[in-house]
Amino acid sequence: MNKVIIGVILYVGGWAVFHYGLFPMFTPREFSWVFNRYVYFLMLVFYFIAFNLILKLKPPISLNSLAVWLLGLYFYTAILFPPIPWTLLITYMMLWSIGTFLYVSQDKETFQEFRRPIVNVVTGEYKIARYIIFAALPLLVGWATYESIYPSFAEPVELRTVHPAPPATTKVHGKTYALEGLQNPFRKGEQDDYKDSFPFLDADKQEYMKYVTEGGTIFFENCHFCHGDQLNGLGMFSHVFNPTPANFIDPGTIAMLRESFLFWRVAKGGPGLPNESTPWSSAMPPWEEHLKTDEIWKVILFEYWYTGWHPRTFDDESSSVE
Ligand code: HEC
Repeated sequence: MNKVIIGVILYVGGWAVFHYGLFPMFTPREFSWVFNRYVYFLMLVFYFIAFNLILKLKPPISLNSLAVWLLGLYFYTAILFPPIPWTLLITYMMLWSIGTFLYVSQDKETFQEFRRPIVNVVTGEYKIARYIIFAALPLLVGWATYESIYPSFAEPVELRTVHPAPPATTKVHGKTYALEGLQNPFRKGEQDDYKDSFPFLDADKQEYMKYVTEGGTIFFENCHFCHGDQLNGLGMFSHVFNPTPANFIDPGTIAMLRESFLFWRVAKGGPGLPNESTPWSSAMPPWEEHLKTDEIWKVILFEYWYTGWHPRTFDDESSSVE
């Protein structure tokens, strides 16, 4: 049998046995030098060198460099632990490629030998290989383009910043608001003063309850689909979103936020989140496109009234959880 074919079989076969059989069997162990994954990798490399020497294969340099190059790729993608980000992988592989190239281009003969199969494919006698490669290339480019454009439904690897730092000012309906010191214009007195009130009974008698009622109407017209009719984030559409809609009952959401923060978040929604909260894409709509400024303030008032939380205020840094 042709020596090249024997070499390829031993190379691919040895790699497959190593990768699917031996490596997974030994690597889950604790790190120590005998159980070290890099030791196994070195053994694989020795195996490659050994069968080449023992069988005196002397593979052509193009094949040899391809094997070395793939070995590097295998090391960086599967052996190196913990895994490295792909930007680093590209950097390392560039260096590895340069190293491999230096090796094949060390003198004229090796370089010509390395080029020969490539030239033969492009212009020479390897006709079938040429047809296959020139048919596969456009397909490959097409597939790569498709892959990069097709949206991914996997969770981003970055951690999500749930409550990013708000901007200093925000412009809603043509008016610029400085968030620092911004108050809810509909908050009349202390919300505890109304704790025995009911929206439908006291809306006519008490101004505060009137705004709460209006806010409640806005909430049930717009927000409960996602945030739930008990404001617990379990609205009927909530289950399809990641991140899930905020649970306002939870002490980790509106209870520890200022109303001005909510004003900004409700007005600008997911699209208005700063970069630190991306690439997670929030389904929260930018409500300035649908609600008036007053309506935004009223729905915020309702959320605090319903949950019993007090918004964090400016003079009291320790939040208002009693
Ligand atoms: C399409 C679903 C959807 C609707 C409808 C919706 N929200 Fe949201 N909302 C979300 C999601 C998802 C989040 C969590 C991700 C984020 O912070 O952007 C969120 C977050 C929020 C937050 C931020 C809470 C926090 O802890 O930072 C507030 C406030 C809020 N929503 C208020 C509202 C109000 C008020 C309405 C109605 C006017 C509303 N939402 C309607 C999906 C929705």
